[in-house]
Amino acid sequence: AHASARALASPLLDDVQEVLVSEQHIARRVQALGQQISADYRGREPVLIGILKGAVLFLSDLLRALTIHASVDFMAISSYGTGTQSSGVVRILKDLDHPIAGRDVLIVEDIVDTGLTIRYLLDNLRSRRPASLRVCVLLDKRERRQIPVELDYVGFEIPDRFVVGYGLDYAERYRNLPFIGVLRPEVIRDQGGR
Ligand code: XMP
Ligand code: MG
Repeated sequence: AHASARALASPLLDDVQEVLVSEQHIARRVQALGQQISADYRGREPVLIGILKGAVLFLSDLLRALTIHASVDFMAISSYGTGTQSSGVVRILKDLDHPIAGRDVLIVEDIVDTGLTIRYLLDNLRSRRPASLRVCVLLDKRERRQIPVELDYVGFEIPDRFVVGYGLDYAERYRNLPFIGVLRPEVIRDQGGR
């Protein structure tokens, strides 16, 4: 699949069928997003809200690409009951540490699929009266959208495939892949019952 997947023996890389977005493409796009966000928020000090756990790698790289003052907070939510299908049920597992009233808030999310999760987050955070509220998402599976949501910053639009890596998991694995990839089908079958 991937050049380094052949060059290096790795139990992790062995499970990858295909690389959709390379490490280099991610790095370049995140730099560009950082510059754009820095320009858009010039003179202001946004709070970036990372959605645990999938957005952690994206957030840490994006943060380093910002040239303005910014703070960081986190929320953890569960949007999936089991497996890989969105349930539409969103539960807050960990709320923000600090109030966001009057702040310029930028949600940093790994992927928007049906849109249910980001819609919930937008409604929830908007009710706390931030000065502004925007969304920065690494991956947009646009063809899967069930409800319309406005995404202010998008890294990549991707096709309707289950992806892992760069923070995204399958059964809590593969977050440490440096690229966005698709797993071999037998891997999903073998781990499917976990
Ligand atoms: P919705 O459908 O609410 O989904 O927009 C957003 C959340 O679903 C997860 N998700 C994925 N996770 N690979 C993953 O590892 C995927 O291809 C994928 N598609 C959706 C993700 O947690 C996201 O926050
Ligand atoms: Mg997940």
